[in-house]
Amino acid sequence: IGGGRDRLRIAIQKSGRLAEPARALLTACGLSWRESRDRLFCYGESLPIDLLLVRDDDIPGLIRDGVCDLGVVGRNVLVEQDIALTRTGAGPAFAELRALGFGACRLDIAVPDTWDWQGPPQLAGLRIATSYPAILQRWLDDQGIEAGVVELSGSVEIAPKLGQAEVICDLVSSGATLAANQLRPATTLLQSEAVLAGPAHAFDDARGALAELLLRRLDGVLRMRN
Ligand code: PRP
Ligand code: ZN
Ligand code: MG
Repeated sequence: IGGGRDRLRIAIQKSGRLAEPARALLTACGLSWRESRDRLFCYGESLPIDLLLVRDDDIPGLIRDGVCDLGVVGRNVLVEQDIALTRTGAGPAFAELRALGFGACRLDIAVPDTWDWQGPPQLAGLRIATSYPAILQRWLDDQGIEAGVVELSGSVEIAPKLGQAEVICDLVSSGATLAANQLRPATTLLQSEAVLAGPAHAFDDARGALAELLLRRLDGVLRMRN
């Protein structure tokens, strides 16, 4: 793949909800690629802008390590990892360059649908299952609430039934997963959508001009869509 500084490398989700819309958006910006056999790396043809197809959770780390220059990722993932890094004294590591208008969802606290929800103080002393421990803990601190944070990497909605937690904090899009698990949204911690993410500092080489060109085209495409 090589580490040239005269090409721009963008990480996008390989498969999942953001994968197709991310590619479609970049195609609308005039980018095209020569597909490689393994299809995890796509060499830019119309412009020196390459794609790396990865897991969404890996995208912030790839930007931080300089493996990729930009990424299309959910704001939820970007903010979670930015808070976690900032805590270690290493952040802020990322910049949200543009909101992209697709992949909208909310990071919500959800409670059993039989509960009479009275507000955040009701969470004191409970266990909350989530894949977003940093965002959740920051919100709990802001609210002055002490609660247990149970970190799970998936299937968070089943945690109350399994007795791992009383409530959850997870992404809600249509709400179908919550409903299927007898949960209902109680309060929103973060409004999310797909964003174009980059490093906190500007590029000081040829990638700067490429990134600016891409952003100008992106702004044109986003304006036409709205
Ligand atoms: C997300 C999220 C919820 C679900 C919400 O999971 O974690 O489980 O979607 O969507 P809904 O409100 O439309 O039901 P996803 O299917 O993306 O998989 P993941 O949890 O493994 O990332
Ligand atoms: Zn994911
Ligand atoms: Mg899920």
